[in-house]
Amino acid sequence: MSSIKIAPSLLAADFGNLQRDVEMVNDSVADWHHIDVMDGVFVPNISYGMPVIKAIATHATKPLDVHLMIVDPDRYIKTFADLGATVLTVHYEACTHLHRTLQAIKAEGMKAGVALNPHTSIHLLEDTIKDIDVVCLMSVNPGFGGQSFIENTYEKVKALKELIDRKGASTLIEIDGGVSSKNAKALADAGADVLVAGSFVFKSAHPQETIKELKEIAGE
Ligand code: DX5
Ligand code: ZN
Repeated sequence: MSSIKIAPSLLAADFGNLQRDVEMVNDSVADWHHIDVMDGVFVPNISYGMPVIKAIATHATKPLDVHLMIVDPDRYIKTFADLGATVLTVHYEACTHLHRTLQAIKAEGMKAGVALNPHTSIHLLEDTIKDIDVVCLMSVNPGFGGQSFIENTYEKVKALKELIDRKGASTLIEIDGGVSSKNAKALADAGADVLVAGSFVFKSAHPQETIKELKEIAGE
């Protein structure tokens, strides 16, 4: 069985019962808590900010995988380190000096992630891949949960895997958006290491079983 990681996205949680939903993830076979931060500028939606993330961090027992969909993310690197982020992911499209940003994230003791929008080529990471711990391939346009998976993602995963192997990097490939039991196996087969799932987990009547199901399907 492959060791694919599952990262439930708390964007789809019930915010009136946030502690309960964080604890559901704690007690499941999930690997990371995925936390989506949206600023209403980089993406056309605003999610939640520092006080909410602090509350999540208080209850979470698994690594915090923070996905910043914000402009000029350098301004908040230290803040997210202080909040306890394990992985801090910035968008390629939001960084003028990506190399500098990656070094700044690592200097704060976090793993450095880079997310690519569906239109952004993986080949733009040729010169930075060895500095990146996680590449998050967006399989929807970022900003909202519950959107349909973009099928071209499979080709991107394969091409990215080839790039990582060719460069001798140890970067993980994460897929974010529209992940479900329908595409989990094909994504794992293409080379994905981490699957983010929001709606598919939190809209389920039995979320912990759904997380287990995703992990099992991906590992078949
Ligand atoms: C989208 C976010 C995703 C989102 C995934 O902008 O980055 O993490 O929560 O939600 P689903 O799994 O519902 O597509
Ligand atoms: Zn995300």
